Amino acid sequence: MGTVPAKPRRGRAPTHYQNYILREDEHPPSGLLGLQTPYGEGVQAHPDELLFIAIHQTFELWFKVMVDEILRKSDGVVARIDAGAYAEASRALRRLAKITNVMREQYSIVETISPTDFLVFRDVLRPSSGYDSAQFRALELASGLRRDASYLKHLCGAKAAAGADPGALSKMVGRAALEVEAGRGSKLAEYSVVKKLMTTGDARGLRLIERALAAPSLRDAAYRAVQKAPAGPAPAAWLKARAKEWSRAQLQAAASGAPSDAALSPREAAQVLHHVASLYRAATARELREPSARATLDLVEAMVEYDESFRNLRMIHINMVLRVIGARPGTGGSAGAPYLRTTLDYEFFPLLWRARDHIEGA
Ligand code: HEM
Repeated sequence: MGTVPAKPRRGRAPTHYQNYILREDEHPPSGLLGLQTPYGEGVQAHPDELLFIAIHQTFELWFKVMVDEILRKSDGVVARIDAGAYAEASRALRRLAKITNVMREQYSIVETISPTDFLVFRDVLRPSSGYDSAQFRALELASGLRRDASYLKHLCGAKAAAGADPGALSKMVGRAALEVEAGRGSKLAEYSVVKKLMTTGDARGLRLIERALAAPSLRDAAYRAVQKAPAGPAPAAWLKARAKEWSRAQLQAAASGAPSDAALSPREAAQVLHHVASLYRAATARELREPSARATLDLVEAMVEYDESFRNLRMIHINMVLRVIGARPGTGGSAGAPYLRTTLDYEFFPLLWRARDHIEGA
């Protein structure tokens, strides 16, 4: 899909590690290795500041790779799932899980900064934090959090998020980007990621979020793929009971500000549960002869693997935060660990997890 072998371009400087990878061929060097200078006067507040900046930058590079892996037009994971190329999609999802696991390990490097050392340079970051990472938000949106009311409240404020679909929100963020490009500041009243990006003039970040909101998400693609998988008819009473449970759970979650999933109607959600449970049932009974059904089951497993790796990432970040700064408020303006705990319930594919309540033993 869509790749051509690269040919050396005539008249171009020969490729060296320095110019292709490091981008350090200018004088003075302005590429990758020149980007870890401390902020402000360029004076390091503490030797560990280099480690702190480098780790954040590697995360940003991984976020970039992951968003591209999901949203690439013709051969991203979403496009591959929609084209029925499940084996390639599963391989890419396992790559996303592996990258996420590498990021999780990177938090254990941050933990080697002692609490006292961190306090020496922590304030340099204020009033920002990882909360403001547009690429992290694009990754969450592309993976599936485009319809969670509790999530969207953080993204653009409860007022803007109320009742708006991802398309409308994408346009709203596009207008915010236009304001920034025209040199105007934020008029948004509520504290949110979009407001923070407007305040700091990050039009590029806003454009990325606009794109991630407009594109079909991994969650949508997963549910579509599962619904295409073969499954016998479900007993009407079973479907009715599941639809009722799902609807009640979503209403309760929305009322308490917990994550909820408005991607499908309760009836469609019940159908997804039935299809996923049927795939596992058929696998257990060794009936999965049809290659496409096997590939769908593998895709579901790869989705859950990616989702699980991301939940682990969130958990390890909180533990690292508690170890380094305790339960103090964050530099980015949130309550700190208490806020981060509220993000632990985010799931990219809630129905793939709920289906596990209905899988039967061999
Ligand atoms: C000592 C190191 C760190 C501490 C104490 C810390 C602390 C925090 C806190 C308190 C928050 C909540 C938002 C706020 O600031 O009010 C936060 C959010 C976040 N941090 Fe960190 N962090 C650290 C390192 C990192 C690193 C290395 C990354 C990698 C990019 C990172 C990524 C994030 C992200 C993505 C969020 C947003 C999470 C969400 O809203 O779901 N953090 N961090």
